[in-house]
Amino acid sequence: MMKTIQFFDTTLRDGEQTIGVNFSIEDKIMMAKKIADWGANVIEAGFPVASENDFNAVRRIGQEVENCNIIGLARCVKKDIDAVIRALADVPNGQIHVFIATSPIHREYKLHMDKKAVIEQIKESVSYAREYFEHVEFSPEDATRTEWDFLVEAVRTAIAAGADVINIPDTTGYTNPQEFGALFDYLKTNIPEFDRVTFSVHCHDDLGMATANALEAIQHGATRIEGTINGIGERAGNTALEEVAAAMYVRKDFYQATNSINLAKTFELASIISEKSKMPLPHNKAITGANVFAHESGIHQDGFLKNHATYEILTPQSVGVEHSSIPLGKLSGSHAVAVKLDEMGYHVTKDEMRSIFPIFKKVADNQPIVTEKELQQIMVQFDKVM
Ligand code: KIV
Ligand code: ZN
Repeated sequence: MMKTIQFFDTTLRDGEQTIGVNFSIEDKIMMAKKIADWGANVIEAGFPVASENDFNAVRRIGQEVENCNIIGLARCVKKDIDAVIRALADVPNGQIHVFIATSPIHREYKLHMDKKAVIEQIKESVSYAREYFEHVEFSPEDATRTEWDFLVEAVRTAIAAGADVINIPDTTGYTNPQEFGALFDYLKTNIPEFDRVTFSVHCHDDLGMATANALEAIQHGATRIEGTINGIGERAGNTALEEVAAAMYVRKDFYQATNSINLAKTFELASIISEKSKMPLPHNKAITGANVFAHESGIHQDGFLKNHATYEILTPQSVGVEHSSIPLGKLSGSHAVAVKLDEMGYHVTKDEMRSIFPIFKKVADNQPIVTEKELQQIMVQFDKVM
């Protein structure tokens, strides 16, 4: 049976934790509208207690962004929860996300709290938040480095206190897909309320496994994925939501899951977030990088020209990119060169190509890409020789 996966976008909160990123309120509102339009179900708009700007951004996004639930972040601390209440409690689609660290290293060195005190704080904070919000999400921070039995106790405490969404964060990007899947299986077996609430997943990319971990979690019971556009976020960043959306689209046969993402709007959204975060998209960035729909080597170009699907598992148009390209370099083959020349108006025969191609190879061997201008010069040389 197909399951439905909710997309929770935290570009404006965890994404803004990227070093050097500071979005203006107006930009945040514009981006939130674009993210809602892309199809995200929930937008984490900020951390209201953190600053006046964060507070105002969350409030305005709550008031101005429609078709999406807007969530504000709070530690399990009364003043944080009060800040979210002031920002969002009268917003019909406003929600709250409370968190406290549960791992031994965080308990001992950051919180200076024992297990009992952490449990008490969860109980108190979640039930307080629940007085003001119909939907309360709870996160045991650093869940993947928490003792599994204590994680169960923390989660069950939050559910009993009124949380209806439980997020399992891999705060430090420590886990791997096999282990994360096993952790979800353990939670499913040991939490009788598992099916009564929504299980969410929030992964960081310290070991480059954030997307894989998030996708594995949905195979093991999570129905909400948290992440950011372009994977921006604290340290190595978060799960890149566009990668999850594309993987679910390409491998629907495998994931058997649907979502409300309008994939064709992905490239436009990624470009906006890249511009506003001043973080250029790496050329090899999955889904949205400039090289993703470009084919350079002769074997690939030949296959692609015969049937695009030989080397493209999704079409550029499906993610909002205009078209693929076949840049010409020293590894390119004569098929691609002939097609390019044809596009430029040079209709060369196979025999002529046998003379042109060695000239092309000589030029290409000394530089990364052969430009149209250089191809024109090659054709001038060829005309002289003929
Ligand atoms: O990475 C993390 O643990 C977080 C929490 C606030 C969910 O961002
Ligand atoms: Zn995070």
